[in-house]
Amino acid sequence: MLALVILLLLAVHIAEAHNAVLHLKHGFAHLEGSSVKQGGRGMSRGHFQRLIDHDRARMQRRLAVVDFPLSGNDDPLVTGLYYTQVGLGTPMQSFYLQVDTGSDLLWVNCAPCNNCPSSSGLNIPLSIYNPTGSSSSEILQCSNSLCLEALQKPDCDSMNRCSYQSVYGDGSATSGYLVSDAITYNQLDGTSDSATISSANIVFGCGYNQTGDLLQPTRAVDGLMGFGQDAISVPSQLAAQGLTPNVFAHCLEGENKGSGILVIGEVMEPDVLYTPIVPGQQHYNVELQNIAVNNINVSQPSVFAIPNYGGGGVIFDCGTTLAYIVQPAYGDFVDAVVRNALVEANTLQGQTCFSYSGSLDGVFPGVTLYFAGGAMELSPDQYMIQQEVGFYCIGWFESTTSPGYPAYSILGDIVLKDKLVVYDNERGQIGWKSYDCTQGISVSSEREGNSSLLTVNPYQTSAPGVHSASSRPLSISLFLSILACAFSNMLNFIVCRLDYPPY
Ligand SMILES: *[C@@H]1O[C@H](CO)[C@@H](O)[C@H](O)[C@H]1NC(C)=O
Ligand SMILES: *[C@@H]1O[C@H](CO)[C@@H](O)[C@H](O)[C@H]1NC(C)=O
Ligand SMILES: *[C@@H]1O[C@H](CO)[C@@H](O)[C@H](O)[C@H]1NC(C)=O
Repeated sequence: MLALVILLLLAVHIAEAHNAVLHLKHGFAHLEGSSVKQGGRGMSRGHFQRLIDHDRARMQRRLAVVDFPLSGNDDPLVTGLYYTQVGLGTPMQSFYLQVDTGSDLLWVNCAPCNNCPSSSGLNIPLSIYNPTGSSSSEILQCSNSLCLEALQKPDCDSMNRCSYQSVYGDGSATSGYLVSDAITYNQLDGTSDSATISSANIVFGCGYNQTGDLLQPTRAVDGLMGFGQDAISVPSQLAAQGLTPNVFAHCLEGENKGSGILVIGEVMEPDVLYTPIVPGQQHYNVELQNIAVNNINVSQPSVFAIPNYGGGGVIFDCGTTLAYIVQPAYGDFVDAVVRNALVEANTLQGQTCFSYSGSLDGVFPGVTLYFAGGAMELSPDQYMIQQEVGFYCIGWFESTTSPGYPAYSILGDIVLKDKLVVYDNERGQIGWKSYDCTQGISVSSEREGNSSLLTVNPYQTSAPGVHSASSRPLSISLFLSILACAFSNMLNFIVCRLDYPPY
Protein backbone atom coordinates (compact mmCIF):
# COMPACT_ATOMS: atom_id res chain seq x y z
CA MET A 1 0.00 0.00 0.00
CA LEU A 2 1.06 3.45 -0.75
CA ALA A 3 1.43 5.32 2.41
CA LEU A 4 1.11 8.96 2.06
CA VAL A 5 -0.26 9.27 5.48
CA ILE A 6 -1.70 12.39 6.79
CA LEU A 7 -0.88 11.87 10.35
CA LEU A 8 -2.91 14.57 11.91
CA LEU A 9 -2.10 13.44 15.31
CA LEU A 10 -4.40 15.25 17.57
CA ALA A 11 -3.89 14.41 21.07
CA VAL A 12 -2.62 15.09 24.37
CA HIS A 13 -2.51 13.42 27.51
CA ILE A 14 0.02 11.75 29.51
CA ALA A 15 0.41 8.82 31.72
CA GLU A 16 3.61 7.29 32.85
CA ALA A 17 4.39 4.23 30.84
CA HIS A 18 5.85 1.78 33.21
CA ASN A 19 8.17 -1.08 32.61
CA ALA A 20 6.38 -4.26 33.36
CA VAL A 21 8.45 -7.38 33.44
CA LEU A 22 6.69 -10.02 31.47
CA HIS A 23 7.10 -13.70 31.85
CA LEU A 24 5.94 -15.16 28.62
CA LYS A 25 5.21 -18.80 28.46
CA HIS A 26 5.10 -18.95 24.72
CA GLY A 27 5.86 -16.82 21.77
CA PHE A 28 5.18 -17.11 18.10
CA ALA A 29 5.13 -20.74 17.15
CA HIS A 30 6.56 -19.88 13.79
CA LEU A 31 9.45 -17.95 15.29
CA GLU A 32 10.86 -20.86 17.11
CA GLY A 33 12.51 -22.40 14.09
CA SER A 34 13.98 -19.10 12.96
CA SER A 35 17.27 -19.85 11.37
CA VAL A 36 19.95 -17.61 12.68
CA LYS A 37 23.50 -18.39 11.87
CA GLN A 38 26.71 -17.05 13.28
CA GLY A 39 29.19 -15.37 11.04
CA GLY A 40 29.10 -13.39 7.84
CA ARG A 41 28.85 -14.67 4.34
CA GLY A 42 32.38 -14.94 3.06
CA MET A 43 33.49 -11.53 4.21
CA SER A 44 36.64 -10.96 6.13
CA ARG A 45 36.52 -10.84 9.87
CA GLY A 46 38.83 -7.85 9.76
CA HIS A 47 36.34 -5.82 7.82
CA PHE A 48 33.65 -6.49 10.36
CA GLN A 49 35.89 -6.15 13.35
CA ARG A 50 36.82 -2.64 12.31
CA LEU A 51 33.17 -1.72 11.96
CA ILE A 52 32.30 -3.35 15.24
CA ASP A 53 35.14 -1.65 17.08
CA HIS A 54 34.03 1.66 15.67
CA ASP A 55 30.49 1.05 16.82
CA ARG A 56 31.53 -0.13 20.24
CA ALA A 57 33.49 3.03 20.79
CA ARG A 58 30.59 5.12 19.69
CA MET A 59 27.82 3.45 21.58
CA GLN A 60 28.33 2.05 25.00
CA ARG A 61 25.11 0.21 25.18
CA ARG A 62 23.36 -2.92 24.27
CA LEU A 63 22.67 -3.43 20.61
CA ALA A 64 20.23 -6.23 20.27
CA VAL A 65 18.87 -7.44 16.98
CA VAL A 66 15.12 -7.70 16.60
CA ASP A 67 13.94 -9.85 13.78
CA PHE A 68 10.39 -9.51 12.41
CA PRO A 69 8.64 -11.88 10.03
CA LEU A 70 7.69 -10.30 6.72
CA SER A 71 4.96 -11.25 4.25
CA GLY A 72 3.21 -9.60 1.36
CA ASN A 73 4.27 -8.27 -2.00
CA ASP A 74 4.54 -5.17 -4.12
CA ASP A 75 2.03 -6.17 -6.78
CA PRO A 76 -0.85 -3.68 -6.64
CA LEU A 77 -3.08 -6.19 -8.43
CA VAL A 78 -2.46 -8.86 -5.81
CA THR A 79 -1.79 -7.39 -2.39
CA GLY A 80 0.33 -4.27 -2.74
CA LEU A 81 1.60 -4.21 0.81
CA TYR A 82 4.08 -5.86 3.15
CA TYR A 83 3.13 -6.85 6.65
CA THR A 84 4.74 -8.24 9.74
CA GLN A 85 3.49 -10.01 12.83
CA VAL A 86 4.05 -8.84 16.40
CA GLY A 87 2.67 -9.82 19.78
CA LEU A 88 0.89 -7.28 21.96
CA GLY A 89 -0.51 -7.48 25.48
CA THR A 90 -0.53 -10.04 28.27
CA PRO A 91 -1.37 -12.75 27.53
CA MET A 92 0.21 -12.07 24.19
CA GLN A 93 -2.04 -11.82 21.17
CA SER A 94 -0.60 -11.88 17.67
CA PHE A 95 -1.31 -9.08 15.17
CA TYR A 96 -0.59 -8.62 11.49
CA LEU A 97 0.56 -5.06 10.83
CA GLN A 98 1.39 -3.28 7.62
CA VAL A 99 5.01 -2.13 7.62
CA ASP A 100 5.29 1.59 6.85
CA THR A 101 8.26 3.92 6.79
CA GLY A 102 5.98 6.80 5.74
CA SER A 103 4.43 7.22 9.18
CA ASP A 104 5.37 6.83 12.82
CA LEU A 105 2.60 5.39 14.94
CA LEU A 106 1.90 1.71 15.55
CA TRP A 107 -1.87 1.23 15.88
CA VAL A 108 -4.12 -1.82 15.97
CA ASN A 109 -7.83 -2.44 15.55
CA CYS A 110 -9.11 -2.05 19.05
CA ALA A 111 -12.19 -3.06 21.02
CA PRO A 112 -14.80 -1.78 21.34
CA CYS A 113 -14.56 -0.90 17.66
CA ASN A 114 -16.84 1.34 15.62
CA ASN A 115 -15.22 0.54 12.29
CA CYS A 116 -12.78 -2.32 12.02
CA PRO A 117 -12.38 -4.92 9.25
CA SER A 118 -13.77 -8.33 10.10
CA SER A 119 -12.04 -10.53 7.56
CA SER A 120 -9.10 -10.39 5.20
CA GLY A 121 -8.47 -11.75 1.73
CA LEU A 122 -4.85 -12.18 2.76
CA ASN A 123 -5.81 -15.44 4.46
CA ILE A 124 -4.74 -14.17 7.84
CA PRO A 125 -6.95 -14.38 10.90
CA LEU A 126 -7.79 -10.85 12.05
CA SER A 127 -7.72 -9.99 15.74
CA ILE A 128 -8.90 -7.08 17.80
CA TYR A 129 -6.79 -5.75 20.63
CA ASN A 130 -8.77 -5.37 23.81
CA PRO A 131 -7.07 -3.13 26.37
CA THR A 132 -9.24 -4.42 29.17
CA GLY A 133 -8.27 -7.99 28.29
CA SER A 134 -4.54 -7.33 28.71
CA SER A 135 -3.16 -7.25 32.25
CA SER A 136 -0.22 -5.07 31.16
CA SER A 137 -2.29 -2.47 29.29
CA GLU A 138 -2.46 1.10 30.56
CA ILE A 139 -4.20 4.08 29.04
CA LEU A 140 -1.67 6.79 28.32
CA GLN A 141 -2.41 9.96 30.23
CA CYS A 142 -2.58 13.29 28.43
CA SER A 143 0.40 14.55 30.40
CA ASN A 144 2.75 11.83 29.12
CA SER A 145 5.61 13.24 27.09
CA LEU A 146 5.02 10.76 24.28
CA CYS A 147 1.48 12.02 23.95
CA LEU A 148 2.74 15.58 23.68
CA GLU A 149 5.70 14.83 21.45
CA ALA A 150 4.11 12.35 19.17
CA LEU A 151 0.85 13.98 18.56
CA GLN A 152 1.99 17.57 18.16
CA LYS A 153 -1.53 18.79 18.75
CA PRO A 154 -2.36 17.25 22.06
CA ASP A 155 -6.00 16.43 22.49
CA CYS A 156 -7.59 14.86 25.50
CA ASP A 157 -10.82 13.13 24.82
CA SER A 158 -13.77 13.21 27.20
CA MET A 159 -12.29 10.29 29.11
CA ASN A 160 -8.95 12.07 29.56
CA ARG A 161 -7.27 9.77 27.06
CA CYS A 162 -4.58 10.89 24.64
CA SER A 163 -6.47 10.71 21.38
CA TYR A 164 -4.96 10.52 17.92
CA GLN A 165 -6.11 10.64 14.34
CA SER A 166 -3.94 9.68 11.37
CA VAL A 167 -5.01 10.41 7.83
CA TYR A 168 -3.06 8.70 5.08
CA GLY A 169 -2.34 9.73 1.54
CA ASP A 170 -4.95 7.42 0.05
CA GLY A 171 -7.61 9.11 2.14
CA SER A 172 -7.91 6.33 4.68
CA ALA A 173 -7.80 7.22 8.34
CA THR A 174 -7.55 5.75 11.80
CA SER A 175 -8.52 7.30 15.08
CA GLY A 176 -8.38 6.17 18.67
CA TYR A 177 -6.30 6.76 21.77
CA LEU A 178 -2.85 5.81 22.97
CA VAL A 179 -2.13 2.95 25.32
CA SER A 180 1.02 1.49 26.82
CA ASP A 181 1.43 -2.28 26.70
CA ALA A 182 3.93 -5.04 26.07
CA ILE A 183 5.24 -5.78 22.59
CA THR A 184 6.67 -9.24 22.12
CA TYR A 185 9.28 -9.87 19.46
CA ASN A 186 11.99 -12.17 18.33
CA GLN A 187 15.44 -11.16 19.58
CA LEU A 188 18.78 -12.44 18.35
CA ASP A 189 21.55 -11.83 20.83
CA GLY A 190 24.41 -13.61 19.23
CA THR A 191 25.05 -15.96 22.10
CA SER A 192 23.17 -18.85 20.60
CA ASP A 193 21.95 -20.00 17.24
CA SER A 194 18.34 -19.50 18.08
CA ALA A 195 16.15 -16.53 18.67
CA THR A 196 14.73 -15.68 22.05
CA ILE A 197 11.34 -14.19 22.67
CA SER A 198 11.70 -10.76 24.29
CA SER A 199 9.35 -8.01 25.21
CA ALA A 200 9.30 -4.34 26.09
CA ASN A 201 6.65 -1.84 26.96
CA ILE A 202 5.73 0.54 24.19
CA VAL A 203 3.10 3.14 23.47
CA PHE A 204 0.79 2.51 20.52
CA GLY A 205 -2.62 3.43 19.21
CA CYS A 206 -5.84 1.68 20.12
CA GLY A 207 -7.70 2.37 16.86
CA TYR A 208 -11.45 2.11 17.17
CA ASN A 209 -12.50 3.95 14.02
CA GLN A 210 -10.85 3.09 10.71
CA THR A 211 -12.03 4.37 7.34
CA GLY A 212 -11.26 4.01 3.66
CA ASP A 213 -8.81 1.42 2.41
CA LEU A 214 -8.04 0.29 5.95
CA LEU A 215 -11.43 -1.49 5.84
CA GLN A 216 -10.87 -2.97 2.37
CA PRO A 217 -11.57 -6.67 2.94
CA THR A 218 -9.30 -7.98 0.19
CA ARG A 219 -6.18 -6.90 2.02
CA ALA A 220 -7.23 -5.94 5.52
CA VAL A 221 -4.68 -6.28 8.30
CA ASP A 222 -4.90 -5.73 12.04
CA GLY A 223 -3.19 -2.36 11.94
CA LEU A 224 -0.05 -0.60 10.92
CA MET A 225 3.46 -0.32 12.28
CA GLY A 226 5.11 3.01 11.57
CA PHE A 227 8.90 3.00 11.28
CA GLY A 228 9.32 6.77 11.00
CA GLN A 229 11.77 9.00 12.87
CA ASP A 230 9.42 10.40 15.51
CA ALA A 231 9.72 9.39 19.14
CA ILE A 232 6.50 7.38 18.90
CA SER A 233 7.76 4.85 16.32
CA VAL A 234 8.72 1.41 17.59
CA PRO A 235 12.40 1.69 16.57
CA SER A 236 12.58 5.08 18.35
CA GLN A 237 10.91 3.72 21.48
CA LEU A 238 13.11 0.62 21.66
CA ALA A 239 16.21 2.74 21.09
CA ALA A 240 15.13 5.23 23.76
CA GLN A 241 14.94 2.33 26.20
CA GLY A 242 18.48 1.30 25.26
CA LEU A 243 17.34 -2.01 23.84
CA THR A 244 18.30 -1.62 20.21
CA PRO A 245 20.16 0.82 18.00
CA ASN A 246 17.87 3.11 16.03
CA VAL A 247 18.75 1.37 12.81
CA PHE A 248 16.57 -1.00 10.83
CA ALA A 249 16.50 -2.57 7.43
CA HIS A 250 14.12 -4.24 5.06
CA CYS A 251 14.59 -6.48 2.09
CA LEU A 252 11.26 -6.71 0.25
CA GLU A 253 11.11 -9.69 -2.01
CA GLY A 254 9.49 -8.85 -5.34
CA GLU A 255 7.69 -11.07 -7.83
CA ASN A 256 4.99 -11.99 -5.40
CA LYS A 257 7.17 -14.41 -3.50
CA GLY A 258 5.72 -12.79 -0.45
CA SER A 259 8.56 -12.56 1.96
CA GLY A 260 11.80 -10.91 2.84
CA ILE A 261 13.60 -9.56 5.87
CA LEU A 262 12.68 -6.87 8.40
CA VAL A 263 15.18 -6.36 11.18
CA ILE A 264 16.12 -3.74 13.76
CA GLY A 265 19.88 -3.82 14.27
CA GLU A 266 23.25 -2.62 13.03
CA VAL A 267 23.56 -3.82 9.45
CA MET A 268 27.11 -4.85 8.59
CA GLU A 269 26.78 -5.66 4.90
CA PRO A 270 29.61 -4.30 2.74
CA ASP A 271 29.01 -2.21 -0.37
CA VAL A 272 25.89 -0.48 0.91
CA LEU A 273 25.68 3.04 -0.55
CA TYR A 274 24.39 5.71 1.82
CA THR A 275 22.82 9.10 1.29
CA PRO A 276 22.03 11.58 4.06
CA ILE A 277 18.50 11.82 5.44
CA VAL A 278 17.49 15.46 4.99
CA PRO A 279 17.25 16.69 8.58
CA GLY A 280 14.19 18.34 10.05
CA GLN A 281 11.67 16.67 7.74
CA GLN A 282 8.76 14.56 8.81
CA HIS A 283 9.59 11.65 6.51
CA TYR A 284 12.66 9.83 5.27
CA ASN A 285 13.57 12.57 2.81
CA VAL A 286 16.68 12.26 0.70
CA GLU A 287 18.34 14.45 -1.89
CA LEU A 288 17.61 13.15 -5.38
CA GLN A 289 19.78 14.90 -7.96
CA ASN A 290 18.70 13.30 -11.15
CA ILE A 291 17.00 10.43 -12.92
CA ALA A 292 18.85 8.81 -15.79
CA VAL A 293 17.29 6.55 -18.41
CA ASN A 294 19.82 4.44 -20.30
CA ASN A 295 22.53 6.51 -18.59
CA ILE A 296 21.23 9.83 -19.87
CA ASN A 297 20.01 12.31 -17.29
CA VAL A 298 16.49 13.43 -17.96
CA SER A 299 15.88 15.93 -15.18
CA GLN A 300 17.40 18.53 -12.89
CA PRO A 301 18.09 18.54 -9.16
CA SER A 302 15.94 21.61 -8.48
CA VAL A 303 12.82 19.66 -9.46
CA PHE A 304 13.17 17.48 -6.39
CA ALA A 305 14.00 20.18 -3.86
CA ILE A 306 12.00 20.58 -0.70
CA PRO A 307 9.84 23.71 -0.99
CA ASN A 308 10.41 26.60 1.40
CA TYR A 309 7.20 25.93 3.25
CA GLY A 310 8.39 22.40 4.03
CA GLY A 311 7.11 18.96 3.19
CA GLY A 312 7.54 17.49 -0.26
CA GLY A 313 10.91 16.38 -1.53
CA VAL A 314 11.76 12.75 -2.21
CA ILE A 315 10.95 10.11 0.36
CA PHE A 316 11.55 6.42 0.95
CA ASP A 317 8.23 4.86 1.89
CA CYS A 318 7.72 1.11 2.07
CA GLY A 319 4.08 1.76 3.01
CA THR A 320 3.43 2.92 -0.54
CA THR A 321 2.99 0.36 -3.29
CA LEU A 322 4.20 2.25 -6.34
CA ALA A 323 6.27 5.36 -7.10
CA TYR A 324 5.12 8.94 -7.56
CA ILE A 325 7.31 11.54 -9.22
CA VAL A 326 6.74 15.28 -9.42
CA GLN A 327 6.49 17.11 -12.71
CA PRO A 328 8.25 17.95 -14.93
CA ALA A 329 10.57 15.08 -14.01
CA TYR A 330 7.77 12.55 -14.37
CA GLY A 331 6.94 13.47 -17.96
CA ASP A 332 10.62 13.57 -18.89
CA PHE A 333 11.08 10.11 -17.39
CA VAL A 334 8.14 8.60 -19.28
CA ASP A 335 9.24 10.18 -22.56
CA ALA A 336 12.73 8.76 -22.13
CA VAL A 337 11.43 5.26 -21.37
CA VAL A 338 9.24 5.38 -24.48
CA ARG A 339 12.15 6.59 -26.62
CA ASN A 340 14.47 3.89 -25.33
CA ALA A 341 12.07 0.93 -25.30
CA LEU A 342 12.44 -1.52 -28.16
CA VAL A 343 8.66 -1.99 -28.18
CA GLU A 344 6.20 0.63 -29.31
CA ALA A 345 4.16 2.30 -26.58
CA ASN A 346 0.39 2.69 -26.48
CA THR A 347 -0.89 5.61 -24.52
CA LEU A 348 -4.24 4.74 -23.01
CA GLN A 349 -6.03 7.50 -21.19
CA GLY A 350 -2.77 8.99 -20.06
CA GLN A 351 -1.11 5.76 -19.01
CA THR A 352 1.84 4.48 -20.99
CA CYS A 353 1.63 0.77 -21.77
CA PHE A 354 3.30 -1.82 -23.98
CA SER A 355 1.97 -5.02 -25.53
CA TYR A 356 4.84 -7.31 -24.80
CA SER A 357 5.62 -10.64 -23.24
CA GLY A 358 9.04 -11.92 -22.36
CA SER A 359 11.91 -10.65 -20.33
CA LEU A 360 11.92 -6.90 -19.70
CA ASP A 361 15.68 -6.62 -19.42
CA GLY A 362 17.36 -5.46 -22.60
CA VAL A 363 14.03 -4.44 -24.12
CA PHE A 364 13.23 -1.66 -21.67
CA PRO A 365 15.92 0.74 -20.46
CA GLY A 366 17.71 0.67 -17.15
CA VAL A 367 17.05 3.61 -14.85
CA THR A 368 19.44 5.26 -12.42
CA LEU A 369 18.44 7.40 -9.47
CA TYR A 370 21.32 9.73 -8.55
CA PHE A 371 21.18 10.51 -4.85
CA ALA A 372 23.57 12.83 -3.05
CA GLY A 373 25.41 9.78 -1.71
CA GLY A 374 25.46 7.52 -4.73
CA ALA A 375 23.54 5.97 -7.58
CA MET A 376 20.71 3.46 -7.31
CA GLU A 377 20.40 1.25 -10.36
CA LEU A 378 16.90 0.05 -11.26
CA SER A 379 15.88 -2.70 -13.63
CA PRO A 380 12.72 -2.41 -15.76
CA ASP A 381 10.63 -4.43 -13.31
CA GLN A 382 11.23 -1.62 -10.82
CA TYR A 383 9.18 0.79 -12.91
CA MET A 384 6.94 -1.52 -14.98
CA ILE A 385 3.86 -3.44 -13.90
CA GLN A 386 2.47 -6.44 -15.69
CA GLN A 387 -1.22 -5.68 -15.86
CA GLU A 388 -2.18 -8.75 -17.81
CA VAL A 389 -0.28 -11.45 -19.54
CA GLY A 390 1.41 -9.74 -22.47
CA PHE A 391 0.60 -6.24 -21.29
CA TYR A 392 2.85 -3.96 -19.24
CA CYS A 393 2.36 -0.39 -18.13
CA ILE A 394 4.67 2.10 -16.51
CA GLY A 395 4.02 1.73 -12.80
CA TRP A 396 5.31 5.12 -11.71
CA PHE A 397 2.78 7.89 -11.56
CA GLU A 398 2.74 11.64 -11.54
CA SER A 399 2.65 13.00 -8.05
CA THR A 400 -0.24 15.39 -7.68
CA THR A 401 -1.48 17.31 -4.73
CA SER A 402 -4.05 19.83 -3.69
CA PRO A 403 -3.10 23.51 -3.87
CA GLY A 404 -1.13 24.58 -0.85
CA TYR A 405 0.07 21.08 -0.05
CA PRO A 406 3.58 20.00 -0.92
CA ALA A 407 4.00 17.42 -3.69
CA TYR A 408 6.08 14.47 -2.67
CA SER A 409 8.08 12.22 -4.89
CA ILE A 410 7.57 8.85 -3.24
CA LEU A 411 9.74 5.83 -3.77
CA GLY A 412 7.50 2.94 -2.77
CA ASP A 413 7.76 -0.81 -2.88
CA ILE A 414 8.11 -1.04 -6.66
CA VAL A 415 11.45 0.79 -6.34
CA LEU A 416 12.54 -0.51 -2.94
CA LYS A 417 11.96 -4.23 -3.60
CA ASP A 418 14.79 -6.67 -4.22
CA LYS A 419 17.14 -4.40 -2.31
CA LEU A 420 18.56 -4.22 1.12
CA VAL A 421 17.42 -0.81 2.39
CA VAL A 422 18.93 0.45 5.65
CA TYR A 423 17.36 3.30 7.63
CA ASP A 424 20.19 4.44 9.87
CA ASN A 425 18.72 6.96 12.30
CA GLU A 426 21.90 6.88 14.41
CA ARG A 427 23.98 8.40 11.63
CA GLY A 428 21.19 10.15 9.71
CA GLN A 429 21.48 8.19 6.49
CA ILE A 430 19.67 5.72 4.28
CA GLY A 431 21.53 2.95 2.51
CA TRP A 432 20.72 0.54 -0.29
CA LYS A 433 22.21 -2.31 -2.19
CA SER A 434 20.69 -4.61 -4.80
CA TYR A 435 20.00 -7.82 -2.96
CA ASP A 436 18.50 -11.25 -3.27
CA CYS A 437 16.14 -11.17 -0.31
CA THR A 438 16.20 -14.94 0.04
CA GLN A 439 19.79 -14.53 1.27
CA GLY A 440 20.56 -13.56 4.83
CA ILE A 441 21.99 -10.21 5.85
CA SER A 442 24.83 -9.63 8.31
CA VAL A 443 23.91 -7.74 11.45
CA SER A 444 25.95 -7.15 14.60
CA SER A 445 24.66 -7.45 18.09
CA GLU A 446 26.38 -6.30 21.23
CA ARG A 447 25.82 -7.29 24.78
CA GLU A 448 27.87 -6.01 27.70
CA GLY A 449 30.68 -5.08 25.40
CA ASN A 450 30.76 -8.39 23.53
CA SER A 451 29.93 -8.14 19.87
CA SER A 452 28.86 -10.87 17.60
CA LEU A 453 27.95 -11.06 14.00
CA LEU A 454 24.71 -12.73 12.98
CA THR A 455 23.19 -13.63 9.69
CA VAL A 456 19.52 -12.80 9.71
CA ASN A 457 17.66 -14.98 7.26
CA PRO A 458 14.10 -14.75 6.01
CA TYR A 459 11.80 -16.90 8.07
CA GLN A 460 11.89 -20.42 6.78
CA THR A 461 8.26 -21.13 7.48
CA SER A 462 5.78 -20.50 4.73
CA ALA A 463 4.41 -17.02 4.84
CA PRO A 464 0.76 -16.51 5.61
CA GLY A 465 -1.08 -16.80 2.34
CA VAL A 466 -1.68 -14.00 -0.07
CA HIS A 467 -4.02 -13.89 -3.01
CA SER A 468 -3.18 -16.18 -5.79
CA ALA A 469 -1.06 -14.37 -8.32
CA SER A 470 -3.29 -15.65 -11.08
CA SER A 471 -6.19 -13.48 -10.02
CA ARG A 472 -5.95 -10.12 -11.67
CA PRO A 473 -9.34 -8.58 -11.17
CA LEU A 474 -8.39 -5.05 -11.99
CA SER A 475 -9.58 -3.55 -15.23
CA ILE A 476 -7.38 -1.04 -16.95
CA SER A 477 -9.93 1.71 -16.60
CA LEU A 478 -10.01 1.23 -12.86
CA PHE A 479 -6.28 1.20 -12.75
CA LEU A 480 -6.16 4.48 -14.59
CA SER A 481 -7.91 6.16 -11.73
CA ILE A 482 -4.84 5.62 -9.63
CA LEU A 483 -3.02 8.76 -10.48
CA ALA A 484 -1.90 10.19 -7.22
CA CYS A 485 -1.15 9.05 -3.79
CA ALA A 486 -2.64 12.03 -2.07
CA PHE A 487 -6.16 13.27 -1.83
CA SER A 488 -7.76 10.62 -3.92
CA ASN A 489 -10.40 8.33 -2.62
CA MET A 490 -10.26 6.24 -5.76
CA LEU A 491 -7.15 4.32 -4.88
CA ASN A 492 -9.00 1.08 -4.84
CA PHE A 493 -6.03 -1.12 -5.38
CA ILE A 494 -3.13 0.89 -4.17
CA VAL A 495 -2.00 1.57 -0.69
CA CYS A 496 -0.62 4.91 0.23
CA ARG A 497 0.48 5.27 3.82
CA LEU A 498 2.35 8.50 4.07
CA ASP A 499 1.25 10.89 6.70
CA TYR A 500 0.93 14.58 6.15
CA PRO A 501 2.13 17.11 8.66
CA PRO A 502 -0.67 18.80 10.52
CA TYR A 503 -0.92 22.10 8.67
C1 LIG B 1 -14.78 7.82 12.19
O1 LIG B 1 -13.84 8.60 11.51
C2 LIG B 1 -14.38 9.32 10.43
C3 LIG B 1 -13.23 9.97 9.68
O2 LIG B 1 -12.21 10.41 10.49
C4 LIG B 1 -15.39 10.32 10.97
O3 LIG B 1 -15.94 11.06 9.91
C5 LIG B 1 -16.48 9.57 11.69
O4 LIG B 1 -17.38 10.49 12.28
C6 LIG B 1 -15.89 8.68 12.77
N1 LIG B 1 -16.94 7.83 13.29
C7 LIG B 1 -17.10 7.62 14.59
C8 LIG B 1 -18.23 6.73 14.98
O5 LIG B 1 -16.37 8.13 15.43
C1 LIG C 1 23.72 12.71 -14.15
O1 LIG C 1 23.49 13.47 -12.97
C2 LIG C 1 24.24 13.01 -11.87
C3 LIG C 1 23.79 13.81 -10.64
O2 LIG C 1 23.74 15.17 -10.91
C4 LIG C 1 25.71 13.16 -12.14
O3 LIG C 1 26.47 12.69 -11.04
C5 LIG C 1 26.04 12.33 -13.36
O4 LIG C 1 27.39 12.48 -13.70
C6 LIG C 1 25.18 12.75 -14.52
N1 LIG C 1 25.42 11.85 -15.64
C7 LIG C 1 25.67 12.28 -16.86
C8 LIG C 1 25.91 11.25 -17.91
O5 LIG C 1 25.71 13.48 -17.13
C1 LIG D 1 31.88 -11.19 27.38
O1 LIG D 1 33.16 -11.74 27.14
C2 LIG D 1 33.88 -12.01 28.31
C3 LIG D 1 35.30 -12.44 27.91
O2 LIG D 1 35.25 -13.40 26.89
C4 LIG D 1 33.16 -13.09 29.13
O3 LIG D 1 33.87 -13.38 30.32
C5 LIG D 1 31.78 -12.58 29.48
O4 LIG D 1 31.04 -13.57 30.14
C6 LIG D 1 31.05 -12.16 28.21
N1 LIG D 1 29.78 -11.54 28.57
C7 LIG D 1 28.64 -11.89 28.01
C8 LIG D 1 27.44 -11.16 28.47
O5 LIG D 1 28.56 -12.79 27.18
